Amino acid sequence: MLGNFTYKNPTKLYFGKDALNGLYEELPKYGKNVLLVYGGGSIKKNGIYDKIVAILRASGKNIYEDGGVMPNPTTEKLKEGIERAKKANADFILAVGGGSVCDYAKAVSISVYCDEDPWDKYFLRFEEPTCKIIPVGCVLTMVGTGSEMNGGSVITNRSQHLKIGHVFGDEVFPKFSVLNPEFTYTLPKYQMTAGFFDIMSHILEQYFSGEDDNTSDYIMEGLMKSLIHSSLIAVKNPTDYEARSNIMWTATWALNTLVAKGKTTDWEVHMIGQAVGAYTDATHGMTLSAVSLAYYKHILSYGLAKFKRFAVNVWGVNPSGKSDEETALAGLAEMEKWMNAIGLVMNIRDLGVTDDMLDGIVKATLIMDGGYKVLTSDDVLSILKNSL
Ligand code: NZQ
Ligand code: ZN
Repeated sequence: MLGNFTYKNPTKLYFGKDALNGLYEELPKYGKNVLLVYGGGSIKKNGIYDKIVAILRASGKNIYEDGGVMPNPTTEKLKEGIERAKKANADFILAVGGGSVCDYAKAVSISVYCDEDPWDKYFLRFEEPTCKIIPVGCVLTMVGTGSEMNGGSVITNRSQHLKIGHVFGDEVFPKFSVLNPEFTYTLPKYQMTAGFFDIMSHILEQYFSGEDDNTSDYIMEGLMKSLIHSSLIAVKNPTDYEARSNIMWTATWALNTLVAKGKTTDWEVHMIGQAVGAYTDATHGMTLSAVSLAYYKHILSYGLAKFKRFAVNVWGVNPSGKSDEETALAGLAEMEKWMNAIGLVMNIRDLGVTDDMLDGIVKATLIMDGGYKVLTSDDVLSILKNSL
């Protein structure tokens, strides 16, 4: 049974090869001073930067730059961004990049007029903004996080060894996002496939929770099948527009709040992955791929019926002649084959985790209560050891 909910998604999307023209429609709605936020320079190499600057100029905007947003954006960079936005007297923030750039832009947008420490307020105390918020728009260049159509923002505090995400309410969602699948063609394969698993993980986090039979589960099974199919094409031919566009759209739907409506969700893989990320600064999607199989094997017996359904409906495992556990394990084995086929990192040692980090990673892992088993510290340690 679906629980009660309200549903609204305030982000307007422009999708397809001409999506960038959406800027001509959107930019006039905001003030003159635009803070242009981007990462380490990929958009300068692939020409996206030039296209955007030309549109901003044609729209009569004053452009103030805030580049150098790193993957897994930090509290130090956030402070710098706040100062830049203040100096620019920014009316609007245009984020051009992947999840890190979009997340960072959202964090800046709610921190410029915040008179408390944003890390403490938003990421340790999980409070909602109470100050003026600068509107944000996104041009997506890396697919995976869903940040283009959600209120999520994940920030890393390096000195505290913590990486924490806060899912904010409607007012923090991007006002609009531009999704042109061709903008993702220049992604290195490592980033591309990390994004593919991030999408898968977002779906699994919402799928493996609760016992009910509901519409969301069917939507998620469809999204997973589409992702599996298209990802295998995209790793062979990264410029296959059909595959890349389907993956881009799947990523958005995987985490734009829709499939979580009316049901419980887990998110423990993300909590473990983020703790690994806090210690290693590893690529987000790879932190998830490296711990997922160990986690799901650890909890499989507590959610057996759903793991069996996953094996049959998503991976086409034939359950006849098999026990429920054998069917469920066969599903995970199929997922492992797919993960290897697209070239994911399968253990945390390859991400730089060393034995002396394990206790710290356990402590940095937030424990959620929506999955099939509420983990103890010993459970987390055992999952990490099985992921080494
Ligand atoms: O910085 P540049 O030079 O642009 O290079 C980036 C970066 O090195 C590169 N890249 C992006 N687009 C490119 C490109 N290179 C060539 N061509 C392009 N078109 O890719 C690298 C990774 O980018 P990043 O933005 O870090 O990746 P992603 O989109 O995976 O974002 C990861 C961040 O998002 C958070 C993660 O924790 C991590 O901090 N997440 C945000 C979520 C949300 N808002 O809901 C949920 C997710 O679960 C996730 O936690
Ligand atoms: Zn993720």
